[in-house]
Amino acid sequence: MARKWWQDEVIYQIYPKSFRDSNGDGIGDIRGITEKLDYLEDLGVTMLWICPIYQSPMDDNGYDVSDYMALAPEFGDMDDLDELIREADKRNIKIMMDLVINHSSDEHEWFQKALEDPESRYHDYYIFKEGNERPNNWRSIFGGSVWEKVPGRDEYYYHTFGKKQPDLNWENEELRKVLFDMVNWWLDRGIAGFRIDAISFIKKDLTWSDREPDGVDRLAKCTKATRNMPGIGEFLTELKEETFARHRCVTVAEAAGVPYEKMGEFIGENGYFDMIFDFRYADLDIASGSEWFKRLPWTVKELEEKIMASQMIMQKYGWPANFIENHDQPRAASKYLKEAQDNKDAVKMMGAMYFFLRGVPFIYQGQELGMVNFERTSMEQFNDLSSIDQYQRSLEEGLSGEEALRIVNLRSRDNARTPFPWNAEKYGGFTEGTPWLNMTEEYPRINAEAQKGKEGSIYEFYKEMIAFRQHGPYSRTLIEGNIEPVRSGEDVISYRRFTEEESIYCLFNFSGKERTETLPNTGMVPIWGNLEQTHMNGKTIKLQPYQAVLIKENE
Ligand code: NOJ
Repeated sequence: MARKWWQDEVIYQIYPKSFRDSNGDGIGDIRGITEKLDYLEDLGVTMLWICPIYQSPMDDNGYDVSDYMALAPEFGDMDDLDELIREADKRNIKIMMDLVINHSSDEHEWFQKALEDPESRYHDYYIFKEGNERPNNWRSIFGGSVWEKVPGRDEYYYHTFGKKQPDLNWENEELRKVLFDMVNWWLDRGIAGFRIDAISFIKKDLTWSDREPDGVDRLAKCTKATRNMPGIGEFLTELKEETFARHRCVTVAEAAGVPYEKMGEFIGENGYFDMIFDFRYADLDIASGSEWFKRLPWTVKELEEKIMASQMIMQKYGWPANFIENHDQPRAASKYLKEAQDNKDAVKMMGAMYFFLRGVPFIYQGQELGMVNFERTSMEQFNDLSSIDQYQRSLEEGLSGEEALRIVNLRSRDNARTPFPWNAEKYGGFTEGTPWLNMTEEYPRINAEAQKGKEGSIYEFYKEMIAFRQHGPYSRTLIEGNIEPVRSGEDVISYRRFTEEESIYCLFNFSGKERTETLPNTGMVPIWGNLEQTHMNGKTIKLQPYQAVLIKENE
């Protein structure tokens, strides 16, 4: 694969509502991001992915866009965004926007006009079906039927996600053209590219036929009929040719469920996108089908197998976007390390494990501080519409209120959405007002001020790790090198990064106990790690609890 400029990036994801509030209304904003650019530059990241900042009623915190070419006033205006792009550029930081084109908000002018007048051109921008009962039994991602009745008419509209997120009808050529013009308009404004939301859902099964029910609600998960359906490639090719291919930009697809054998179509040399997120390893504890609410047990070996299977497929076809956290996932420290979530060595080890995989690393805000989940004690403390739905569905499945709350706590998207803790002061310096969502209880201890410039902190570790990948003596191998799995004991994840000239073994001990591994050769040299000492003797290495170490093979 020919080298691409964006392979060198380290991308930092910002959830704008929770990053930094510059005007005291309790909601983070664009100026807040600009204020914190020095922090991001110090950390060493090279691009920001900013979750949606478009005009929106915020039912799904911006993933419900009511005007694609205007910004949400609570986040700021176009001047603020231009200033952010300019100021970021001075620090060699690029800006990636979120692109939400599977659905809009029901408050979008198009949808409002479609409701007002079924004869209007906008009616066909969405998916309506006439009748006085639901056209089929598909369940939306956020629960309940995918169909919502149009008030006052014998008609239903379709939504893959929430009720206030009607799906756009990609079968309509005029709509596609309007979307493409909008995408080009943004790219012309100087943004570096897009993370593209829920893009595997744009093609539906046009027979709209019922599926086998898979829950007590007698509905069937809609993904079976709406995700990666035959024909999606035509839409995606057109999207690419009419927009991305005309600009120097980078695209990352949130395209869940793409079968591995189709990865080439998505991210191959002539793929629809540059990179893709693979959720298979992140979903390793999520049960599917009628037992969806269960949390599956998993082992370190299973995590390793899933990660490496993904890496090998991606290597065959293209380039992955690697992550352990985002705004839809629980905090990685809590999820993957469980009772060791407060162990700094463990948090650093986990960070390094995914960071040196082949691909572009994504860091979610607060991950660099080792932030943890926020256990809520009642449903009133949640904002996320998916958590509220999961609670209701758990009760319907027969779980007690206590069990339902436990499940929601483990999974909730609000775990990662708590406001960013800048310091130990009131509301962590996030806002001078009252934050829209509670801070985590740990913020007096886990915050940026307590870690930045402090030796041994998780922040300083991330900073050093980024610098080592970007500018260290082994940068070329760590960025461009190939990857292959390496056999190791049950609590250890290991892989090899290599070029023709250089070979680096990467070992990560997920256990709180010492673990002995055998290296392929004697005379190998440790080049980087999270602990001061590496205990090697001949071919034997005694990994200390939660040790991460990179070892170079001597030529
Ligand atoms: C995926 C986004 O990451 C999530 O936050 C959102 O709710 C859905 N897509 C719907 O847009």
